[in-house]
Amino acid sequence: MAQSQVMAQTLFLSVAEMRELVARVGLGTFIAKVQQRLEHDYKRWEEFEKSPRTANHAHGVGVIELMPVSNHEEFSFKYVNGHPYNFKHQMPTVMAFGALSDMETGFPKFLSEMTILTAIRTAATSVLAASVMARPESRSMAMIGNGAQSEFQILAFHAALGINRFHLYDIDPAATEKLLRNLAGTTGFELVPFGSTAEAVRGCDLVTTCTADKAYATILTPEMVEPGMHLNAIGGDCPGKTELHRDVVARARVVVEFEPQSRIEGEIQQMPADFAVTELWQVLTGAAPGRAGAEEVTIFDSVGFGLEDYSALWVAYELAREHGLGQSLDLIPPMADPKDVFGLLSLAASRR
Ligand SMILES: NC(=O)c1ccc[n+]([C@@H]2O[C@H](COP(=O)([O-])OP(=O)(O)OC[C@H]3O[C@@H](n4cnc5c(N)ncnc54)[C@H](O)[C@@H]3O)[C@@H](O)[C@H]2O)c1
Repeated sequence: MAQSQVMAQTLFLSVAEMRELVARVGLGTFIAKVQQRLEHDYKRWEEFEKSPRTANHAHGVGVIELMPVSNHEEFSFKYVNGHPYNFKHQMPTVMAFGALSDMETGFPKFLSEMTILTAIRTAATSVLAASVMARPESRSMAMIGNGAQSEFQILAFHAALGINRFHLYDIDPAATEKLLRNLAGTTGFELVPFGSTAEAVRGCDLVTTCTADKAYATILTPEMVEPGMHLNAIGGDCPGKTELHRDVVARARVVVEFEPQSRIEGEIQQMPADFAVTELWQVLTGAAPGRAGAEEVTIFDSVGFGLEDYSALWVAYELAREHGLGQSLDLIPPMADPKDVFGLLSLAASRR
């Protein structure tokens, strides 16, 4: 029997099409949609089958990770790396792609670039956590690390939480200059560069640490942390890669994404196994408080979790179809007789 097309094809969203999609939807709207979906998905936490991501370490230079998650309807995974010294090769620290599949058949219905999408979902996750952990009157944030994620963080915190003053610091002045160039012309908030982390964080309501170094770094030390601060710690996301001094963690309320993964990769890898943490879904559902009072220091110890990539892929898939973007990808063979993979080869041979 001749092979004919009987299955839908995989929709592929390239980098160029993701850029077009963000341009059409608007970055702020895109981040807000991912934030909404994240909240929806985190609130149905029990419906997902979860596991810590698998990590293959390139000794001393980085890591490549696979991040799967599923519910009864869908499965997703992301391939992502973390190579802090990639700038030497003219490559980003974080590069990613991922897929969304139907659980009933296993068919991969969507394959997408996720380097841009990861920056969007990380910003959306950060503001979602801060919305239930930071003091509501917060208006200022220090942005420590002005690399690839930083503009997304700033735009999301301004739009979602009304942060209108950002203090900037990076050990690489060119990174801060890049940030200032990229956000020149945006209105509604001030961007103020500083010469050190200690100066940048002084007096701020929030601090986002988003640095990349394969080390037990101490970007924030206890004397820099003021009562009531919310720390959005993004950059410590791997064994042997942290940003907060141990005593900063010890004195704060700590919220994590998925405890089994965060114990391995988060700031809490520095703490004893029984150090108390709360998972984000518990705060979002009201099962646990995000902060106890105005003086408490809170930490969102973020490492990035597969559920966030699922939510982001889900939104990107919906938006791509709505805007008619993406190409059909010849990834899975369409087969009239699903038992005849061999027949696909005969067909190719007969064409020669
Ligand atoms: N939690 C998550 O979900 C998540 C998501 C994406 C990225 N990340 C992590 O966030 C970090 C930043 O990612 P990126 O894509 O922006 O990387 P990037 O390499 O583009 O930027 C990192 C910046 O940190 C700066 N930096 C390094 N050490 C510093 C220090 N001691 N003080 C101040 N600045 C310092 C570097 O100069 C660089 O500009 C990485 O470690 C990455 O693995 C986490």
